[in-house]
Amino acid sequence: MPQYVAAIDQGTTSTRCIVFNRQGQIVSLAQKEHKQIYPQPGWVEHNPEEIWKNTLEVIALARIKGKLSVQDIAAVGITNQRETTVVWNRKTGKAYHNAIVWQDTRTGELVSQFAAADALGQDRFREKTGLPLATYFSGLKLKWLLDNVPGLRDDAERGDALFGNMDTFVVWNLTGGPQGGLHLTDVTNASRTQLMNLHTLGWDDSLLDAFTIPRAMLPQIRPSSQVYGTVTSEVLPGVPVAGILGDQQAALVGQTCYEPGMAKNTYGTGCFLLMNTGTKLRPSTCGLLTTVAYQFDNQPVHYALEGSVAIAGALVQWLRDNLGIIEKSTDIDALARSVDDNGGAYFVPAFSGLYAPHWKADARGVIAGLTRFVTKGHLARAVLEATAYQTVDVVRAMEQDAGVSLRSLRVDGGMVVNDLLMQFQSDMLNCPVIRPLITETTALGAAYAAGLAVGFWNGFDDLRQNWGIAKTYEPHMEEIQRSKLMRGWQKAIERSFGWED
Ligand code: G3P
Repeated sequence: MPQYVAAIDQGTTSTRCIVFNRQGQIVSLAQKEHKQIYPQPGWVEHNPEEIWKNTLEVIALARIKGKLSVQDIAAVGITNQRETTVVWNRKTGKAYHNAIVWQDTRTGELVSQFAAADALGQDRFREKTGLPLATYFSGLKLKWLLDNVPGLRDDAERGDALFGNMDTFVVWNLTGGPQGGLHLTDVTNASRTQLMNLHTLGWDDSLLDAFTIPRAMLPQIRPSSQVYGTVTSEVLPGVPVAGILGDQQAALVGQTCYEPGMAKNTYGTGCFLLMNTGTKLRPSTCGLLTTVAYQFDNQPVHYALEGSVAIAGALVQWLRDNLGIIEKSTDIDALARSVDDNGGAYFVPAFSGLYAPHWKADARGVIAGLTRFVTKGHLARAVLEATAYQTVDVVRAMEQDAGVSLRSLRVDGGMVVNDLLMQFQSDMLNCPVIRPLITETTALGAAYAAGLAVGFWNGFDDLRQNWGIAKTYEPHMEEIQRSKLMRGWQKAIERSFGWED
């Protein structure tokens, strides 16, 4: 009788395989980073072949580390960086181009053209897709590939070129690749392409026409939890592939936010706050996204409101890699603690423009409020604070859209080990911030989706029992101080607008 479920988390910076037991505890973990390719300012690519190789390696390594036989694993779930777009040939398995990463801004010009062609501007497709026109989503990235890679459009029309986000690419390879791999995605990933109609949950002809995307290249859209097929690769032969969730939706599932009104914030490369809004679509008027939260087999789809922030942990990496102010990411904590406050400095990390709630493709990063007093300690503090301020902005938008105040926030992701940031987040939100016992909620959510589909877990109650609190941060800051800091942030963010012509 298998005792474990495996999850593959194909993220922006690395690919991981994590194996969980029935209590949702980690039994084994393996991780491998892949190269970030920056061909021009604002462009970000990944090599899909490198990612597939890493996927096989981390699965094999996780099995070795945990001394796990194939019979120990009940199912495998996939979770992934969303929106990142890859196109490959059905017969050879070869990619036509590097994957265009969600943060990439090369479609900025297309965004302006599409918005200018309609009275609704950036909100032209919002009613159908829940998304504004932005460089973030897959549809325009795919259009760019079709328009720029010689021969691709012809192959796509013939059905020889296949489109997918990273979930689709990994599943296709895991289940046979050119020898007959499954070409499918789940509703959460499909909802980020801007090609799926949120009401019908199918690819939408009027959207495909607008973006000039041949239907023959699109994967089948399936629920997030269902047995899709079995692994053919040697690393996990015969194991059912039974769950797919975009990584932020997976974290919502891993945090057991199954009731309307429950929300989580994941602090990773970016920062993504999702609130479950139940089975009804809730349109946003405050700059948030309406998106699919999850769909379990034979159950109605659940929707979410999302506040997406492009740069959070990535700013710490930038400080490390581009400025060399710190050696390791974790060094930021001691540097930020070497001072009492930000010294008046604010850092707006609009490296990929600004996402929610501003949606400004033309914004670029700024450091504001500098005086001779400011040291690298203050800058380190401003870097951490930037993540907290951006979260406040999306929480306030969410409160307006949902018509309720947030009573507490469940958090997860790599940055939540930073006590300084979490306390500051609680102070700035003026509400408790709750860190759960298991913070690997993204992989856990994918494991839950796969495990539910094969009966490894019986239902949500099993999963809720696995959730527990590690630490709660209570707010201590005076209102006057909070308002002063938010005013400074507001001024800084306005200075980031309108840089790119
Ligand atoms: O929408 C982008 C998001 O899915 C990326 O998440 O954790 O890989 O940075 P992450």
